[in-house]
Amino acid sequence: LARGTTSPDLAGRHVVVSAGGTREYLDPVRFLGNRSSGLQGYALARAAAARGAEVTLVAANVALADPAGVKVVRVETTAELRQEVLAAAAAADAVVMAAAPADFRPVTTSEAKIKKAADGSAPAIELTQNPDILRELSADRVHPGQVVVGFAAETGDASGSVEELAREKLARKGCDLLVVNDVSGGAVFGSPDNEAVILAADGAAVPVPRGSKTVLAHVIWDQVAARLGRDT
Ligand code: CTP
Ligand code: CA
Repeated sequence: LARGTTSPDLAGRHVVVSAGGTREYLDPVRFLGNRSSGLQGYALARAAAARGAEVTLVAANVALADPAGVKVVRVETTAELRQEVLAAAAAADAVVMAAAPADFRPVTTSEAKIKKAADGSAPAIELTQNPDILRELSADRVHPGQVVVGFAAETGDASGSVEELAREKLARKGCDLLVVNDVSGGAVFGSPDNEAVILAADGAAVPVPRGSKTVLAHVIWDQVAARLGRDT
């Protein structure tokens, strides 16, 4: 497999990458969040820049330095992530949703810090579902040739194997490529390594053996590059 780390095969292309995990605030100091470190998204942004792309990185709550030569837009909530990703996607040849948006947010965010009740009772938190950014991106392609990529961390269960569930997710989302991590064995969160299968809507399945998130990033861009530019 050609890695093409130095070949400027993405020169003249604009790509958007989302990274990190969104936060949904309960009050000014508390939020619902998740463990996404942003490492894979940052590796994707750096790899695309190294291949000559103009890169917009929409970063949600990551503790990582801005990569050189990349436009970084920082966000916190899923609503902000959605707004910035959709805005940047309007001029993009490819969009990779490596971020982990919170699936739910509190129906209301208290303007004041929530206080403990004197009687020892706990507040109930009512949640509502967040919009699905990947699905929206996939449905409203701005460019005919735009390539949309999603990620999925899956565990197999009684309803199906990891690959079966991932195939269903790919179809449900409507994206071109779905990068699937099998997380049955343990966490990939915060790890420098990753192992994945890249499923394509055209039926292809590219296994990527355990290796650095940088290597996976380049294989993902190889797959994107192969599907780009049919309209240029
Ligand atoms: N995603 C998104 N918007 C959301 C939730 C997820 O764009 N509100 C994107 C993620 O960035 C990822 C892909 O969708 O690229 C798959 O995320 P995942 O959490 O696996 O999908 P869900 O539809 O939320 O399904 P699940 O119930 O398995 O969490
Ligand atoms: Ca989810």
